[in-house]
Amino acid sequence: MFVVLLGAPGAGKGTQAKVLSERLHLPHVASGDIFRANLANDTRLGQQARPYVESGQLVPDDLTTAMVMDRLEQPDCAAGALLDGYPRTVEQARSLDSELAKRGLTLDRVVYIRVPTVDLLRRLTGRWICRQCQTPYHEVTAPPTVRGVCDVCGGELYQRTDDKPETVQKRLDVFFAQTAPLIDYYQKAGILVEVDGQKGIEDVTRDVLAALGAA
Ligand code: AP5
Ligand code: MG
Repeated sequence: MFVVLLGAPGAGKGTQAKVLSERLHLPHVASGDIFRANLANDTRLGQQARPYVESGQLVPDDLTTAMVMDRLEQPDCAAGALLDGYPRTVEQARSLDSELAKRGLTLDRVVYIRVPTVDLLRRLTGRWICRQCQTPYHEVTAPPTVRGVCDVCGGELYQRTDDKPETVQKRLDVFFAQTAPLIDYYQKAGILVEVDGQKGIEDVTRDVLAALGAA
């Protein structure tokens, strides 16, 4: 099963994907996590992506699609994947459709996690991420047991450089201009389901599983 988690920055895609990938036995493919790993290792791709990621803009479609397709060609993605943060433009959505079609596959479901903008701002500015396993926390709504330490792997928690208030606003603007049209795109394809992302983390997980018929 190929599933896309769609939602604005801070909607909870990464938070939900961590749980859902285990429950659904699907590899979690997060374009933002792959970019951040490339930035941290200062690879050629990381150098190309850095100015876009750090300023809250989208990395060009050709670079992003090549990177994600490379990941989807790994053996663990042969039967499915849980995509988080990709596709993010209509052009990327078309690329995903045609790459899957080449393999005789189709995208099964797109889950749109809807959250009001005021909550997104609060969530992103209070977020902490594990440097090792990328698990997201929130200083108020989802704190780790020990401050600064990941509950899952013991890694160090840090704040993303693109979670500065001015960059967060840029990312939200980019979402509404370039990614929100995908809601209509997937609605027309008949594979969009919407969940209320304002609920608590576990309630959202339950609603996503129900929407996927996997509750
Ligand atoms: P990416 O890493 O994908 O960032 P994003 O889409 O901005 O999304 P976030 O990771 O900020 O939010 P999330 O929905 O995962 O929320 P989270 O679960 O952490 O992309 C980063 C950059 O990479 C982009 O700006 C771009 O430059 C580049 N990029 C990536 N993909 C690309 C693409 N396809 N094309 C081009 N460029 C691309 O939760 C947020 C906070 O809320 C956490 O603190 C969490 O604890 C809390 N929280 C979560 N759920 C709840 C809840 N239900 N109630 C209360 N709090 C909650
Ligand atoms: Mg994320």
